[in-house]
Amino acid sequence: MNTIEEFIKSIPKAELHVHVEGTLEPELKFQLAERNGLQLPYNSVNDMRAAYDFNDLPSFLAQYYEGMSVLITEEDFYDLATAYFARVATQNVVYVEMFFDPQAHTSRNIAFDTVIKGLRRAQDDAKAVYGIYSELILCFLRDMSAESAATALRQAEPYREWILGVGLDSNEKENPPIKFRNVFADARGQGYKLTMHCDVDQENSVTHIWQCINEIGVNRIDHGVNALEDDALVEEIRQRNLGLTVCPISNAYVTDGTKAPAIKAMLSKNLLVTINSDDPAYFPGYMNENLLRVQEEADLDKQEITRLVRNAFEVSWLTDDRRSTFLSQVDTFLESN
Ligand code: ADE
Ligand code: ZN
Repeated sequence: MNTIEEFIKSIPKAELHVHVEGTLEPELKFQLAERNGLQLPYNSVNDMRAAYDFNDLPSFLAQYYEGMSVLITEEDFYDLATAYFARVATQNVVYVEMFFDPQAHTSRNIAFDTVIKGLRRAQDDAKAVYGIYSELILCFLRDMSAESAATALRQAEPYREWILGVGLDSNEKENPPIKFRNVFADARGQGYKLTMHCDVDQENSVTHIWQCINEIGVNRIDHGVNALEDDALVEEIRQRNLGLTVCPISNAYVTDGTKAPAIKAMLSKNLLVTINSDDPAYFPGYMNENLLRVQEEADLDKQEITRLVRNAFEVSWLTDDRRSTFLSQVDTFLESN
């Protein structure tokens, strides 16, 4: 082969940081609104997209939560996740660890069961139809109370086998990791893997990343780009082999750029950095567009792209058997590319 663009498009990939609610494209939002008899505050898909002019995390989150109002039935959640899987099947994504935000639905009187049953059926079908294997990560909303997170964890109990880990998302300001110390300890006791968002360029980003490591004992960090500001923190993350799920196009919307140079620096410091889409319907770009954007901005070569892709399988929460199978798929691809 082959141009670097073709290489990025065709290498088998894993995505570890995507919010299923953030994959709700305007077209589907309109379809679901119609099906559920709801009126949206926009006249057209174009008007809706034009309103996506966020410049920080809160302005994005306002649109993100408003958009969820069309998700009501099990079928809606099925259609949402199925549309994402169909999209990334065309991008050679073979494995996904997908976040969902149950409190954003239960707070609207949508049952936890409705949400998870729709998602699970979409996962089963994605495996059968596209050969995409996936797992769920339950995210607590950090701008809600720790008690509310504990309730969500209890609601998940009947579905323990369907959920691989727990995470923490939403507005980070004044909502540090330690607010959720107890519920994360409970989740660990129940055998869940742990991750938390440390969004880019937030107040106290570095302190929050230290808390994730020292107080929570996370298995991975979502975003975490600001770790580069503290050499001791970089060393700690490296020694613990903690993965960082970075989302370049998302970064360009919530802060001042994709952070492509920081991603390159993370590679050179041997951090296990990965590339992901976050909320691709709002920060336009799925896996391939995110990888391409970083490649262009930081002038990455095929070896560096390969490291980003391999890192994702390495820091995923796959069983060792499955991890080796996926990594062999990558190796087979590399033999002829
Ligand atoms: N929820 C969905 N996307 C998010 C992000 N990028 N940061 C925090 N919370 C989120
Ligand atoms: Zn995220």
